[in-house]
Amino acid sequence: MRLNKYLANCGVGSRRKCDELIKSGAVLVDGCVASLGQEVLGTECITINGKVVEHAEKMWYFMLNKPKGCVTTVHDDRGRTTVLDIFAKAYKNRFGADKQVPRVVPVGRLDYNTQGLLLLTNDGNFANALMHPSKKVAKKYVALIYPHLDDADINALKSGIVIDGAKTLPADIRVLQNVGTKQRVEITITQGRNRQVRKMFEAVNKKVNQLERVAIGNLQLGNLARGDIKELDYAECKLALFGIF
Ligand code: URA
Repeated sequence: MRLNKYLANCGVGSRRKCDELIKSGAVLVDGCVASLGQEVLGTECITINGKVVEHAEKMWYFMLNKPKGCVTTVHDDRGRTTVLDIFAKAYKNRFGADKQVPRVVPVGRLDYNTQGLLLLTNDGNFANALMHPSKKVAKKYVALIYPHLDDADINALKSGIVIDGAKTLPADIRVLQNVGTKQRVEITITQGRNRQVRKMFEAVNKKVNQLERVAIGNLQLGNLARGDIKELDYAECKLALFGIF
């Protein structure tokens, strides 16, 4: 996002006022004097006259253990349960039925039948940075598939496989357990293409019976109950996802 827009979103002032501040040399991005038209991800340390720019409104960061059978959208035309319905219920359970539910939105998406770790926030800059392809944030999934993978399948998935006409980036694959004709497999990818994990397994003729996201960067789902939420703080998120404070 353009730096002037980012600063305006943080409540510094109009984009024009932000441009004037940038022109005056008062704005530093990670210690370097900013330039007009500069792009930022929102993970940088930005200062104006030496003072760190903070968001004007409280920023919320939550992880949700998304259950199967809900959509990762804010509204659903077909009336299906959304992750925001699940979030609101969990928030009131945890913090009290009289509490105002924070206006957060999901970061990225999980399919209707995928469960596990989903982040929700009202920090658009943070969400954009997390989803930006250049960040290559690792997303780890556990899938129950059948039939079993052989060595050629594993090599193909690891080195990159063509889905929707383009090769995937290298992935990590670990077979965790054979469960009869099925197999529990851990797969870590650094992209966020549409239904990527399911399509990768389809490309080696495997069916996905269950799919759960268990980690994003170093943020682990851990033992958070299905349908429950956990509040995170900004420093914790930034460190876990980008390796920086
Ligand atoms: N890959 C998929 O196929 N589905 C998801 O929900 C997430 C990643």
